Parts: sequence; structure tokens; C-alpha cells
Amino acid sequence: MTRYHLRNRLKKRVGRWLGRAPQAVERIEVTFVLPDGSEHTVSTEPAYTLHMASQFLETPIHAPCPDGSCGNCRVRILSGQESLRPPSQVEEALLTRALGPDRDPAIRLACHARLTGSGVRVQVDRVWKLEDVRGV
Ligand code: FES
Repeated sequence: MTRYHLRNRLKKRVGRWLGRAPQAVERIEVTFVLPDGSEHTVSTEPAYTLHMASQFLETPIHAPCPDGSCGNCRVRILSGQESLRPPSQVEEALLTRALGPDRDPAIRLACHARLTGSGVRVQVDRVWKLEDVRGV
């Protein structure tokens, strides 16, 4: 169970203890095209980043830094750009530093790109491997 699953379970339980019915949360569908060519669609909440949404996959997007400063979690948005918030200044600066000023606008950082609606289709170039976690 990921921390996002845990968060949802806690929200439901706290709501029950306070005598409130759990609120229906709007769900957003995101499709990830993984490096092996397989496609997986996950259902997530608005305002999640692509990286957070990928936690619902068996192997999430490779995002090695905890503070969103390395620029290694690059993904390509195949469709549905309008369902993502525009890049922040920090994301713009990281992408410009890594790819230059004439970069492809379809390239985003998974840990920065926040969802606002359904229909996003994302090409993922790298997912976590067991070796990454173990450091072997
Ligand atoms: S994981 Fe480092 S910038 Fe996204």
C-alpha cells in the first residue's frame, strides 16, 4: 500500500468518526505508456502530480530526488496537455537547464506536472527497478 492509498483510507475513517459521510472525490483517468510499450490507465484525484498518479502502477515513474530538483523524471505528454497545469517557474528552469531554451513543450517533469482533468496520455521512459531501490 502506498502513502496515497493510506491517505485515502484515513480520510474515509476520519470522516466516519466525525459522523460525516465520505465525500465523493472526483476521479481523473491518466494513461501511462511504459518503456516496454504496455499501456496502463489509473484513476486518481485532481491536483496529483504525474509521479503521484504513477504510484498506482506496479512500477512507478523513476523519480530519484525528494525535492524535485534533479530533472530526471522527464516524461513526454502524448496527448491531453490541456489537462495539466502549466509548468511552474522551477519546472521551466530545470527543463531549460537540461534541454536548452528550444525544448519540446511536450516534455514535462513528472514530479512537477499537476493534473487538472482526465485524458492525459504519458510516455514514460524510465520506471523504478529493484536495482534502483536496493542500490545494487
Ligand atoms: S524526481 Fe527530481 S526533478 Fe523530478
